[in-house]
Amino acid sequence: MARILITSAIPYINGIKHLGNLVGSQLPADLFARYMRARGHEVMFICATDEHGTPAELAAAKAGKPVEDYCAEMHEVQKELAAGFRLSFDHFGRSSSQRNHRLTQHFAGKLAENGLIQEVSEKQVFSIDDNRFLPDRYITGTCPNCGNTSARGDQCEECTKQLDPTDLINPRSSISGSTNLEVRETKHLYLRQRALRDKLEAWIDSKTDWPILTTSIAKKWLNDGDGLQDRGITRDLYWGIPVKKGDAPWPGMEGKVFYVWFDAPIEYIAGTAEWADANGLDDAAWERWWRTDKGASDVTYYQFMGKDNVPFHTLSFPATILGSGEPWKLVDYLKSFNYLNYDGGQFSTSQGRGVFMDQALSILPADYWRWWLLSHAPENSDSEFTWENFQASVNKDLADVLGNFVSRVTKFAKSKLGEAIPDGGDFTPAETALIADLGARIRDYETLMAQMEVRKAAAELRAIWVIGNEYLQAAAPWSAVKTDPARASAIVRLSLNLIRVYAILSRPFIPDAAATMMTAMGSDDWTWPEDVPAALRALAPGDAFSVPENLFRKITDEERADWQQKFSGIRT
Ligand code: 2FM
Ligand code: ZN
Repeated sequence: MARILITSAIPYINGIKHLGNLVGSQLPADLFARYMRARGHEVMFICATDEHGTPAELAAAKAGKPVEDYCAEMHEVQKELAAGFRLSFDHFGRSSSQRNHRLTQHFAGKLAENGLIQEVSEKQVFSIDDNRFLPDRYITGTCPNCGNTSARGDQCEECTKQLDPTDLINPRSSISGSTNLEVRETKHLYLRQRALRDKLEAWIDSKTDWPILTTSIAKKWLNDGDGLQDRGITRDLYWGIPVKKGDAPWPGMEGKVFYVWFDAPIEYIAGTAEWADANGLDDAAWERWWRTDKGASDVTYYQFMGKDNVPFHTLSFPATILGSGEPWKLVDYLKSFNYLNYDGGQFSTSQGRGVFMDQALSILPADYWRWWLLSHAPENSDSEFTWENFQASVNKDLADVLGNFVSRVTKFAKSKLGEAIPDGGDFTPAETALIADLGARIRDYETLMAQMEVRKAAAELRAIWVIGNEYLQAAAPWSAVKTDPARASAIVRLSLNLIRVYAILSRPFIPDAAATMMTAMGSDDWTWPEDVPAALRALAPGDAFSVPENLFRKITDEERADWQQKFSGIRT
């Protein structure tokens, strides 16, 4: 039994996530966590909400709520939706937790002790009426390029030109509208990433088994232009983790907070500590996942994220860990994803384009989405959600292949042989061939799941469902029952056992349908089918089974057209 630590990139607090976000990190991480648990490994699966930074402050202001309240509410909303999608986190934490405050301040203190923090004086816009420094995106004005009167200090959304706040004509505060602004000196902390460049490079070079997508992005940022840049890790904001050196104040840094990207990945660790707290456990319980001096040297750590997050996880966060000089666990394998597009364009949170998690669950259960998203995960390139494709996958893979098999077998068995597992005769060459084929395919499926080859694993699982249908079609128990009832019983017994095996194999992808199949087979034995012939005899003759409710329903053309129309616009 191995010990497996899994983290998914933590979603921003501002707003409900769309399906593109889901398939880029949380969902494949869940697939892997479920698979590793099914194989009997000890798993710790952590996610959280990413609650700090300007976007959180702005979203709270827009909602007319204090930022603390806004974050608390949105955390609950996201937690509910994660449960709705059956994401099996051991803990869904909050980057604003006291645990994260303390750990973030601890890391900053260690980095300072090790000479890796530099104080830098900068000029920044100060709003006299708001009595605060304004981050770039809190300043609005006229774009010098296109004349848009509501361009932001970092970029004009009309003409996409990247801007500096000082470029804006008639700049004003986005908070109060005040034009009473001036440029003032302010001090910030920089993490001296350049000083860690060689260590980071050696570490990345040692990861020869990482996906190309991950390594190429890491290398690009390590070597591009002037190479790795030192990075500001503090901000003049109200909402965030106060800048401190461990427990001690940081002279000159009063009123400042850490930059959201500094504290967010530390929340992976803090979230595990929150898990221990929530379960009444001591520090040793979470430290054995994270401190190599306290038991974590036998942990294998996997991270899941979209490609835009890769630089922060291959350079910045490792710089924090390595720079601390303490024995914290570094990631062993980093699985990254391309983007999922939506019906000819991009999913977009800011533009409200696409299907969002709450909307998805309001029209169909989680398994339908899980199956489509995972079987079309954007692994080797960006992929695209279309309603036609979604309808086709659901109707073919889930309804015609898996659902139909379960329904045919159970209905036939009940009507002709009764509601108990029949006592069939010996296996014939047809069963022996099926078992051999199934055995080979299950081993292949295991390899793909262990390698996090999500799409290929989905294809292999589907192939496993298909061979059950082919066997049933060829064995034709409905004919056998007329002339050779014992033979029909043998076929049905094997097929019912196959349903249980399908439940186990399919559970990481479609957990609810898997539970329905298992319950219908009157079993609660989720033991992984290492020994396929034995697994296909697991249900004892005479034990009761039942015909489950239709596992999957088909999506009609009318529904498809209706949803296509309904989700073609902009969510407000
Ligand atoms: O891209 C995002 O959604 C970020 N909130 C991910 C943060 S991952 C991490 F560093 F914790
Ligand atoms: Zn412009």
